[in-house]
Amino acid sequence: HLSVKERIDKKRKAALVGGGQHRIDAQHKRGKLTARERVELLLDPDSFVESDMFVEHRCSDFGMEQDRNKFPGDSVVTGRGRINGRLVYVFSQDFTVFGGSLSGAHAQKICKIMDQAMTVGAPVIGLNDSGGARIQEGVESLAGYADIFLRNVLASGVVPQISLIMGPCAGGAVYSPALTDFTFMVKDTSYLFITGPDVVKSVTNEDVTQEELGGAKTHTTVSGVAHHAFENDIEALLNMREFFNFLPLSNQDPSPIRECHDPSDRLVPSLDGIVPFETTKAYDMLDIIHTIVDERDFFEIMPNYAKNIVVGFARMNGRTVGIVGNQPKVASGCLDINSSVKGARFVRFCDAFNIPIITFVDVPGFLPGTAQEYGGIIRHGAKLLYAFAEATVPKITVITRKAYGGAYDVMSSKHLRGDVNYAWPSAEVAVMGAKGAVQIIFRGKENQAEAEAEYVKKFANPFPAAVRGFVDDIIEPSTTRKKICRDLEVLASKKQVNPWKKHANIPL
Ligand code: COA
Repeated sequence: HLSVKERIDKKRKAALVGGGQHRIDAQHKRGKLTARERVELLLDPDSFVESDMFVEHRCSDFGMEQDRNKFPGDSVVTGRGRINGRLVYVFSQDFTVFGGSLSGAHAQKICKIMDQAMTVGAPVIGLNDSGGARIQEGVESLAGYADIFLRNVLASGVVPQISLIMGPCAGGAVYSPALTDFTFMVKDTSYLFITGPDVVKSVTNEDVTQEELGGAKTHTTVSGVAHHAFENDIEALLNMREFFNFLPLSNQDPSPIRECHDPSDRLVPSLDGIVPFETTKAYDMLDIIHTIVDERDFFEIMPNYAKNIVVGFARMNGRTVGIVGNQPKVASGCLDINSSVKGARFVRFCDAFNIPIITFVDVPGFLPGTAQEYGGIIRHGAKLLYAFAEATVPKITVITRKAYGGAYDVMSSKHLRGDVNYAWPSAEVAVMGAKGAVQIIFRGKENQAEAEAEYVKKFANPFPAAVRGFVDDIIEPSTTRKKICRDLEVLASKKQVNPWKKHANIPL
């Protein structure tokens, strides 16, 4: 016969230990932190305000109604907190309670914080570690997933949504992360798949391990489902804090401005010699990005997937920018299916959240071949074109070397409403490279070398674009940072709207 106060205390204490000490120990043994430890690391000290600590599942089948099967808070910890003082809503699935499986109550708790995040305009971070639908609850649990999915979709483009996969995430559970803006994983302890290895074996007769099927390496290098993988829980959570600092709280909120000790008018002399004289020779676009942005601080998204395009967040004079760059070091920086989709999704995130986009162009064109054509490069390449064209945020483009063919148009060209388009002296804006061009227009002509030289003189330079106003200026590479910082200041008040529509119809 406990008093109400004693009962409250008892429930609170019980909620803090989730599924009990032996399950916490098991979680630790696997190198994983508990749901609460993760929340503590993610948020500023003492900033976590928990909600629904007393919520319990309502299942009465399979003996679930017995006290020993009830856990205050059920299998997820939810609430709000701060990251570097900025508001964020969080849910953290608790694997120690029924394997973090999703009951109706668990889903309701997540929906509640998602609704609140939408009401006040703050991001949602989900820490996923769950055995999927609570099997004892059946359709109640499936309904719970759908309730979350709907909210993911309605919140898309309104508040940033981030998923960190820190354990199993299988079946229907994968679709909430897939609907969020960014999905990050922890190496070796997390996996995402529609069906596990046993089902795969029985349906397709393939032998595959969990790790091969849906581990962090698979999703960050092969499938492109995840945007980054981290070594362990601690590294992942600390990186989430860094990442969060780049983002606005909502589509109505400006990105945070970080105090900047890197002079906005800093010249970068090394850039004047970075593009090799030989047009077929590679260089690293990351070197350009690192030296131009504030303090070399670049948070790359999908660094190991479709490496022929580089995307990520940085700051210019303290303000967040999205960077897109062709990477001449990988497949000559050509656009293919995967790089187009990677780029397009990133550009659309930036546009949805008012983050200016800076594009570095060195692109020899789209990758030819049956694999690409059969895979639908036309429709996938169109995504990147579409994304740049529809974007109304400040758009600054720098052509460092090649801007060939249709890919020139795609890469945030003037024609797609680029605000400021620069060319470096090494820029070549043309339908194609000299060799290919001469073979076509001077087919059979005796002196191919002479024809090639003529073509190079005419087209392999920035003038054809500059005389038409398709680039606004030809600039010394060393001045690029200074010029971009100055332009961004002017463009901060940019206002542009697209024609009214119910929603656009990007080629999917
Ligand atoms: N519903 C209810 N309880 C679940 C559950 C689920 N979906 N998934 C796991 N649990 C429970 C287990 O019964 C176990 O309880 P116990 O400790 O009281 O025996 C506890 O969570 C831990 O699970 P366990 O299987 O021991 O952990 P594991 O690390 O060996 O395996 C999984 C984890 C996720 C691979 C495994 O539990 C699993 O396959 N679960 C079902 C996944 C699934 O198909 N879900 C439906 C898809 S939507």
